[in-house]
Amino acid sequence: MSAPGDLEPRRCARPRGERFTGNRLMLTLGASLLTLMARLVFSAEPAAPAPAGDPEHGKIVYQACMACHSLDDDDVGPRHRGVIGRPAGSVEGYAYSPALRRSGLTWDAATLDRWLTNPQALVPGAKMFFRLPSARDRADVIAYLSEQR
Ligand code: HEC
Repeated sequence: MSAPGDLEPRRCARPRGERFTGNRLMLTLGASLLTLMARLVFSAEPAAPAPAGDPEHGKIVYQACMACHSLDDDDVGPRHRGVIGRPAGSVEGYAYSPALRRSGLTWDAATLDRWLTNPQALVPGAKMFFRLPSARDRADVIAYLSEQR
């Protein structure tokens, strides 16, 4: 036995409550979005694909490679100029391991990243015994090598 007027406040109260929840939801979503964006902008090493390398720092990292390599002469390891885009084990006159010569790999950012992480994991039987554990160092030295055409 309610007069139409009685319903009015209740009808108003419900939407107001819903609107409140809606605002809270928007705030929560907004906050998580901001956190996510901050993480993307400020994180040192994003999880997703290898970060674009810094060739300047890569040149410094390359000094460690120079224990066995140089750009233009074969040494303990083969020369490196033009290595990006080159089939693995293809420098004329360098005595590669049979494993690397037969690997069928071509050197690009992805294969080099795996090689420098752990050569024997990528090519069992390879004779390079050196690893770069830092993803940033790998990306930087790869960026440096891409410039040595
Ligand atoms: C301790 C010596 C040593 C160090 C240090 C070293 N390498 Fe090597 N590297 C080798 C040897 C030996 C091979 C030949 C591997 C084989 O034939 O299986 C090789 C092969 C390679 C190849 C294959 C080239 C081709 O023509 O197929 C790449 C690329 C490479 N090294 C990159 C690097 C980079 C970049 C670094 C430094 C971050 C580095 N290496 C440090 C010894 C070394």
